[in-house]
Amino acid sequence: MTVEPAKHVRIFDITLRDGSQSKVATRIKLEDLLKIAAKLADTGIYGAETWGGATFDVCVRYLREDPWLRSRRLKEAMPHVKAMMLIRGQNLVAYSNFSDDVVGKFVAAAARNGIDVFRIFDALDDVRNHQAVIKAVREVGKTAEGAVCYTISPVHTIEKFVSKARQLEDMGVDQIAIKDMAGLIDPSTTFELVSSLKKAVNVPIHLHTHDSCGMGMMSALKAVEAGCDMLDSVLSPFAGGTGHPCTESLVYSLHRLGYDTGCNLEKLTLAAEEAKAVRKLYSDFEAPYSGVDCRMLVTQIPGGVMSNLTSQLKIQNALDRLEEIIDEIPRVREDLGWIPLVTPTSQIVVSQATFNVMLGRYKIIANHTANLLKGLYGETPAPVNKELQSRVLKGEQPVTVRPAELLPPMWPELEKKFPGLTDEEILIHAIFPHEAQGYFEEKVK
Ligand code: CO
Repeated sequence: MTVEPAKHVRIFDITLRDGSQSKVATRIKLEDLLKIAAKLADTGIYGAETWGGATFDVCVRYLREDPWLRSRRLKEAMPHVKAMMLIRGQNLVAYSNFSDDVVGKFVAAAARNGIDVFRIFDALDDVRNHQAVIKAVREVGKTAEGAVCYTISPVHTIEKFVSKARQLEDMGVDQIAIKDMAGLIDPSTTFELVSSLKKAVNVPIHLHTHDSCGMGMMSALKAVEAGCDMLDSVLSPFAGGTGHPCTESLVYSLHRLGYDTGCNLEKLTLAAEEAKAVRKLYSDFEAPYSGVDCRMLVTQIPGGVMSNLTSQLKIQNALDRLEEIIDEIPRVREDLGWIPLVTPTSQIVVSQATFNVMLGRYKIIANHTANLLKGLYGETPAPVNKELQSRVLKGEQPVTVRPAELLPPMWPELEKKFPGLTDEEILIHAIFPHEAQGYFEEKVK
C-alpha cells in the first residue's frame, strides 16, 4: 500500500506589516513588533511580511523610527523565516514614480537590510511598472514575487488576470501573488483563478486576501484545494474583518485535511498571546469599526476607502452626499479605464468622484486624474474616456511608453545634494523629501 505524501502549503504570517496596517494604522513600534517576532521565529512559518506598504511612511512621518533598522532587526529576530516586503512597483514605498537608478538603489538597500522576498504590485496592473524592480531584485539574488491586483469590473476576467501572470512569469518573477487588497475575492472565483493560474504558469502561487466581506477563510481553503502553494494570514488577535484569515485556524484546519504547513500550533498560540498583549497597547489607533462589512459586495468599494470617505465628508459637513458619491465612483472608474482601487488609485478615484458630486461632473479635473488620463501612471486596464483625455492633453500626445522611461537618472544629483550620507539615508530624503528633515532631527535613537 502506498501512502500519498502530504501536500505542502507554505504560511506567510503578515501580522507585523499588513496586520498592523489593517487594525492599528501601522503604528506598532519596533520594540513591540520584536516581542511578536521573537515568538514567531520558531513556529515553523515559512515567511513573514515585515516591511513595505505604509511602514516606511509611518516610520519616517510619525514614529521617527529608522525604517531600515526595523527591517534589519526583524530579520535578526527571525533568521530562518523569509522576510517579505510589499513594494509599489516604480513608486517604491511612496505615491509617485522614481527613476530606475533610484529603484535599483532602494532594492539593493532593502536586500542588504534583510528583505528576502519582494512582492511587487502596480496600481494600474501595468506590468511595465514591475520591470525595473524585478531586474533589481534579480541582480541582488532575492525572490521576486509579481502580484496581480484582484478587482471586479466589466473588463476584469479570469483570462485577463491569467494573462498578467503569464507576462510577469516571462519577465522573470519567481512566484505570483493574487493581491486581493479589498477582500472581494469569493471562494468560487478563487478556485477558478488559482486552477487557471496553475495550468498557465510554472511558478508557485501565493494568495493574499482580506476578510473584509467575511470570505477570507473560505477563499483560502478553496485556493489550497485548487493547488495554491502559499497563503498569507495573521495571528488570531489581528484576524478577521479588515484583517486577514487566521494563521492558527488555517494551520489547524489544513493539518486536519492532510496538508503539511510545517507549523507548530502550540508555538503559534504563544505568539498569538504576545500579539494580543501588543494590540492592546495601541487601542488609540483602532478604527471605530474593523469587523466584517458586506456593503462591499454591492458597492465594490474597499472598506478602507469607505471609512476615509465617510470621515472626510463628516469634516466637510457633507455626509448627506455619501450615497451620490458611492454611485459616482464606478462612473469615474469607467472613465479612468476601470483601474483597481488600491494606493494611490483609490485616492484618485474617490477625490474625483467627490469633486464631481459636490461641484458638477468634471467641472474640475484634479491634477492626479489629469496625470492618469495623460498616461503618466501607465496603461489602464481599459481605454480611458477619450473626451476627458483630450481635454487634459490640450493637443499633446498621451504617454504610451513605460512611464519611468521619461525620468532621467536621479541618483547622481541626490548624492551630490547629500554628501557623506549613506545610501539608506539618501533614500529617506529621496522618498519623503518633506518629512526627511523633521525625521532626522527627531529620530529615535
Ligand atoms: Co493587504
